[in-house]
Parts: sequence; structure tokens; C-alpha cells
Amino acid sequence: MLMLKRLFSLSGLIILSLVMTSPYGLAQQKSYPDLSKTKELIIKRGYSKEALQCIECHSKKTPGIVENWKSSRMAHAGVSCYDCHTVKKSSPMASQCEGVKGTNIFTSPMVSPKTCARCHPKEVEQFSKSGHAKLASAPVEDKKKFQVLMYSLEAGKFAGAPDSLRNAARQSGCQMCHGSTVKLNADNKPTDDSWPGGIGMRYPDGGIGNCVVCHNRHGFKVSEARKPESCAKCHLGPDHPDIEIYYESHHGQLFLTEGEEWRWDSAPDTWEPGDYKAPTCAVCHMSGIGELSTTHNISERLKWDLMHPKSVVRSGERGNGEKGRKLMVKVCTNCHSSTHTRNHFAKLDRSAQLYNFYQGKAAKMLADLKAKNLLKQDKWKDPIQELYYYLWHHVGRRARQGSAMDGPDYAHWHGFFQLFQVYKDMEDIYNYRIKNGKIEELSPVMSSAPY
Ligand code: HEC
Ligand code: HEC
Ligand code: HEC
Ligand code: HEC
Ligand code: HEC
Ligand code: HEC
Ligand code: HEC
Ligand code: HEC
Repeated sequence: MLMLKRLFSLSGLIILSLVMTSPYGLAQQKSYPDLSKTKELIIKRGYSKEALQCIECHSKKTPGIVENWKSSRMAHAGVSCYDCHTVKKSSPMASQCEGVKGTNIFTSPMVSPKTCARCHPKEVEQFSKSGHAKLASAPVEDKKKFQVLMYSLEAGKFAGAPDSLRNAARQSGCQMCHGSTVKLNADNKPTDDSWPGGIGMRYPDGGIGNCVVCHNRHGFKVSEARKPESCAKCHLGPDHPDIEIYYESHHGQLFLTEGEEWRWDSAPDTWEPGDYKAPTCAVCHMSGIGELSTTHNISERLKWDLMHPKSVVRSGERGNGEKGRKLMVKVCTNCHSSTHTRNHFAKLDRSAQLYNFYQGKAAKMLADLKAKNLLKQDKWKDPIQELYYYLWHHVGRRARQGSAMDGPDYAHWHGFFQLFQVYKDMEDIYNYRIKNGKIEELSPVMSSAPY
């Protein structure tokens, strides 16, 4: 590792010396400066007095943050606390941290993509067109949709829990993955129920998104964002087990056995097969590979929308499915033949349609029962409606996402196998209600997921 010694001279009085380890290896980079021949780099940067004060005081008050920041590529390029955390006095987020009280400097603990866009406009623009931006926080923000999803949270129906506690599940669950709208206290600091949060955060300055869910602060390393773990905080569990599917796949198997030897820190658009043997989530969904350039629009390479009750080819705000497929195929053919790739996607397309076949029949049963007034009002107390939820939201997603990403156990045992079970149980209940013209008295269904 290359050691960089940087000397900051502060008004000729204090010499603040940061010994930093370069986050990049020694090998040649295409677009980053070649530092391999330089043993010691002494930069007298134009850090203002104020910017140095933030670093100096915070290295005592919050040493963890400063240590992390020092290891970042941005610190090496002279981007500091001052650049990201100071705001205009007129900003809705303007407050003053302990160290700047009484000065004309205003700070904010919130940093929206608008700040990053000053220097990274392309990434922010791509990101904002993706499902990770506005669409991600929409289900949490859209009160009506949210209540339909969280039937039991509907005002007045929440088994008597006090109002002050009612939203705790949403705040520590949904919001930490999806994001929410930041609300402010009188002192312009964020309220304790709205910040921090997930990928689709909506900030008071109008910025939407949260870059640091993948670019962990304050190192902001691409080498971390490229690893599958950077997606795994959110893409896991019974309803979207993408990390589990990945670890099961042949690609994940290679990552787990030899990923430590792969090269993670190449400059963007030069990170190519050879640096790694098998793709990670980022390679397929984001990174530049072959003739494709890096994109922060993770919706761009997708054909299907596999997360809603019915698989549909993407269009409108969800992307362009036909174009998406062409792009994803280009990822695969860097390492596989066109026959291998074609066969894989033929299977995925059949899985999406097989799922639709059962989902369509299940939805029709519900429509019939509804017309005959044979559905309960409270969906969570009605076995057939509960089963339908698991059919699309859990097992149906697993079957299709397992097929998409080479996870045979998820495609079958956690997927289609359980889909058939759930479907057959729904069919029994349906037949009973139609035959007897009434709703059965006791639920034959366990009220936990068929997992
Ligand atoms: C490249 C931009 C950037 C730089 C440089 C930066 N930060 Fe941050 N910082 C962020 C982002 C983004 C967040 C998360 C904000 C959010 O969730 O709204 C954050 C969060 C924080 C927080 C609040 C969260 C916590 O964990 O307590 C503090 C405090 C903070 N930064 C201090 C610093 C200090 C001190 C420095 C300089 C050593 C610094 N930051 C440099 C972008 C930056
Ligand atoms: C003299 C010391 C000192 C200086 C100088 C200083 N800070 Fe702070 N800052 C603090 C302390 C102490 C805290 C409170 C930490 C805590 O909440 O425990 C803080 C908190 C913060 C927070 C988090 C606020 C919150 O509500 O979560 C941010 C962001 C921040 N400082 C940014 C800056 C920036 C940017 C500068 C330079 C313009 C700066 N600070 C200069 C001492 C200082
Ligand atoms: C004042 C300009 C500026 C701001 C604001 C800024 N950046 Fe940067 N960023 C840079 C520079 C300069 C580099 C280094 C580019 C290089 O070395 O080629 C960089 C590099 C990066 C990298 C690549 C790091 C690596 O390991 O290669 C990431 C990721 C990044 N920034 C994310 C962000 C995020 C997220 C924000 C907002 C929270 C942000 N930046 C705000 C200027 C900025
Ligand atoms: C562990 C992180 C996590 C939690 C917690 C979480 N979600 Fe999600 N949610 C996701 C991910 C990831 C997807 C994308 C699933 C896919 O592609 O199959 C998603 C998809 C969705 C969708 C479908 C996409 C859309 O925009 O219509 C809705 C609706 C949704 N979640 C609502 C919620 C609600 C409401 C909560 C809380 C009750 C919640 N989620 C809790 C991670 C989470
Ligand atoms: C879903 C995870 C994720 C999110 C969210 C994310 N990034 Fe990235 N980012 C990545 C990955 C992965 C790479 C490396 C791409 C590659 O290998 O080509 C990257 C690369 C970068 C780079 C280096 C690109 C270059 O060409 O130098 C910058 C700058 C950057 N991101 C900024 C941002 C900003 C700003 C945001 C918020 C708007 C953001 N990222 C949000 C995953 C993410
Ligand atoms: C902090 C949580 C979080 C992280 C981290 C995260 N995602 Fe997501 N992702 C979500 C949510 C929430 C959705 C659902 C968005 C919606 O409602 O449409 C989603 C949706 C997606 C989609 C479907 C997009 C669409 O248009 O429907 C893809 C593909 C995806 N994520 C890939 C990734 C990859 C790859 C990474 C890591 C490099 C990653 N995500 C990291 C939360 C996250
Ligand atoms: C080998 C390439 C590859 C890898 C590696 C990969 N994916 Fe995928 N992913 C795909 C393909 C192909 C699809 C389905 C595309 C389509 O719609 O035709 C997909 C679909 C998805 C979806 C479903 C979007 C929806 O409509 O619900 C999500 C979410 C997702 N991937 C996230 C991830 C995450 C997170 C990882 C890593 C843990 C990952 N992917 C790893 C290729 C990959
Ligand atoms: C960086 C190279 C690379 C990329 C890109 C890549 N793969 Fe792979 N893939 C591999 C390797 C290596 C294996 C393991 C082969 C072995 O060792 O048997 C593999 C295995 C597979 C397997 C397991 C079946 C088999 O042949 O053993 C499937 C399915 C697969 N890949 C599909 C895809 C799809 C679909 C894409 C594009 C969305 C893709 N791969 C992209 C390198 C890659």
C-alpha cells in the first residue's frame, strides 16, 4: 500500500499531518493519476481556515468519522466536511453545530444527492431515474397504499396500541430500506421519526435519494459498493431473497470461495472480467462491462417487473423492458456464449409466465368470491386473502427471482413448490365457500408465512 503524507499548513501556526493509506493499489489506473512512482506527496491545498477547523475539531470529537474520511478517495482529492455539510443560511436544513455557533457558517447533518450533484451530476441524474429514487419511498409516503399494505396499521384498527407508538414498526422497518420524507424540528434538525433512512429519502432541499446506502460513509469506496454485501441490507429475506439467491448461484459460489483475491478497486469503467471471475450484483445491474458503461439506474437492464402481483414487461416509469433485456444480455455475453445466455433467459421468461398463470387463476377466485360477498373485510383474518398475499409477495417473487439469477433452490423449493401448495390451499377454501355459500368458521391456515 502506498503511504501518502499530506501536510496542511494552517495559518503558519499549526501543522496538521494526516498519514493516509491510499484506497487504491499500486497498479496502473486508466483515469486516476498514477501515484505508484511517488513515495511522498506533499500537497498544500487550498483548504480554507474554516474547512481545516472542521477536520481538526472533529478529529477529537468524532474521530471515527474523520478516520474513515481520511481513507477516502475524496479526502485525497481535497473534498472535506466543509464541502458536504455546510449549507447557506437560507437553507431549510441550516443549523449550527457546537463548533460553529455564533459564526456565519451553517451546517447540516443531512446531506442530499443535491450536494453530490455539484460534482457528480451524471450519477445523480441516472440514479434519480431509477426505481431506487422516487419510486422507492413512494409506498411509504403514499398513505393510502401504505395502509393497504399494512392493513393492521390502519388508524383505529391497530389492536389498541397508543398513537405515539403506532408507527414504530414503519419507522424502524419500511423507512430504513425504502426511505421517507425528512421532517424538521423548530431548530431545523431532522425529527427522530424521519431521519436517517433508506434509499429513497426525500430531503427538505428537494433532493431525493441516499447515496451512502451503498457508498458507506465516510469512506465512500467503490470497492465496497461493488461487493454483493452492499445490496444485502435491503435485498434479503422471505420476500426478496436476492443475496441468498446470489450466494447459492454459481456466481456467488465463486465469489465466496475466491472473491478475496479479486481486484475491487479499479477505476470505474476499467473494472472488467479478469479483475473478477464471476459477476456480483453491481456487475450485472450497474457496472461498466465490455461495451456497456456504468449506470446508476438499476432499472435500466431489466425486462420484467417481478415485484408486483403480476409479472409484466417494464414500461413507463418502470423502464423499457425490451431494451433492458438487450442490455442485460450484453453483460452475460462477456463471459458466456449466446446459446448459454439465450437458454437462461428462455427459462426466466417461462418462469415469469408460469407464475402469471397461477396468479391469474388465484386472482380470479378472489374476484368470484368478492362478487358473491364471500370475502372477509379484514384481509389479515381471511385465510384465502392471506394466502394470496404470500402467493405473490413471498413465494411468487422467490420463484421468479430464483429463476432470474441462478438460484435453483429458491426457484423450486422456496418458490414454485410452495406456490403450488399455497395455490391448492386457496382452491380448497374457494370450493368450500362456493359450495356452501358461506365463509368457513375456523381458519385452516397458520397466520405466519408458509416459509
Ligand atoms: C462527500 C460528502 C461528505 C463528506 C466529505 C463528509 N460527509 Fe459527513 N455525511 C455525508 C452523508 C451523505 C451523510 C449521511 C447524511 C444523511 O443520511 O442524510 C453524512 C453524515 C454525517 C454525520 C451524521 C451522521 C452520523 O453518523 O452521526 C456527521 C456527524 C458527519 N457526517 C460528519 C462529517 C465530518 C466531521 C466530516 C469531515 C471529516 C464529514 N462528515 C465529511 C457526506 C459527507
Ligand atoms: C470546535 C469544535 C468543532 C468545530 C470547529 C466544528 N464542529 Fe461540528 N460538531 C462539533 C461537536 C462537538 C458536534 C456534536 C457531536 C455530537 O452530537 O455528539 C458537532 C456536530 C456536527 C455535525 C452533526 C450535527 C448533528 O446534529 O448531528 C455536523 C454535520 C458537523 N458538526 C459538521 C461540521 C462542519 C462542516 C464544520 C466546519 C464548518 C464543523 N462541524 C466544525 C464540534 C465542532
Ligand atoms: C466538491 C466536489 C464533490 C462533492 C460535493 C462530492 N464529491 Fe465525490 N468525488 C469528488 C472527487 C474530486 C472525487 C475523486 C475523483 C478522482 O479521484 O478521480 C470523488 C470521488 C467519489 C467517489 C469514488 C470513490 C472511489 O473509491 O473511487 C464516490 C463513490 C463519490 N465521490 C461519491 C460522492 C457522494 C455520494 C457525494 C455526496 C454525498 C459526493 N461524492 C460529493 C468530488 C466531490
Ligand atoms: C429489508 C428492507 C425492506 C423493508 C424492511 C421493507 N421493504 Fe419493501 N421492498 C424492499 C425491496 C428490496 C423491494 C424490491 C423487491 C423486489 O424487487 O422484488 C421492496 C419492494 C416493495 C414494494 C413494491 C415496489 C413498489 O414500489 O410498489 C412495496 C409496495 C413495498 N416494498 C412496501 C413496503 C412497506 C410498506 C414496508 C413496511 C411495511 C416495506 N416495504 C418494508 C425492501 C424492504
Ligand atoms: C445501489 C448502490 C449504489 C447507490 C445507491 C449509489 N451508488 Fe454510486 N456506485 C455504485 C457502484 C456499484 C459503483 C461502481 C460502478 C462500477 O464498477 O463501474 C458506483 C460508482 C460511483 C462513482 C464513481 C463513478 C466514476 O465513474 O468515477 C460515483 C462518483 C458515485 N458512484 C456516486 C454516487 C452518487 C452521487 C450516488 C447518489 C445519487 C450514488 N453513487 C449512489 C453503487 C451505488
Ligand atoms: C437501503 C436499501 C437498498 C439497498 C442498499 C439497495 N437497494 Fe435495491 N431496492 C431497494 C428498494 C426499497 C427497492 C424497491 C424500489 C421500488 O419501490 O420500486 C429496490 C429495487 C431494486 C431493483 C429493482 C428496480 C426497479 O426499477 O424495480 C434492483 C434491480 C435493485 N434494487 C438492485 C440493487 C442492487 C444491485 C443493489 C446494490 C448494489 C441495491 N439494489 C441496493 C432498496 C435497496
Ligand atoms: C448474473 C447477473 C446477476 C447478478 C449477479 C445479480 N442479478 Fe439481479 N437480476 C438479474 C437478472 C437477469 C434479472 C431479471 C431481469 C429481467 O427482468 O429480465 C434480475 C432481477 C433482479 C431483481 C428483480 C427486480 C424486480 O423486478 O423485482 C432484483 C431486485 C435484483 N435482481 C437484485 C439483485 C441483487 C441485490 C443482487 C446481488 C445480491 C443481484 N441482483 C445479482 C441478473 C443478476
Ligand atoms: C464475469 C464473467 C461472467 C458474467 C458477466 C456472467 N457470468 Fe455466468 N458464470 C460465470 C462463471 C465463471 C460461471 C461458472 C462456470 C463454472 O465454473 O462451471 C458462471 C455460471 C453461470 C450459470 C450456472 C450454469 C452453468 O453454466 O454452470 C448460469 C445460469 C449463468 N452463469 C448465467 C449468467 C447470466 C444469465 C449472466 C448475465 C445476466 C451471466 N451469467 C454473467 C461467469 C460470468
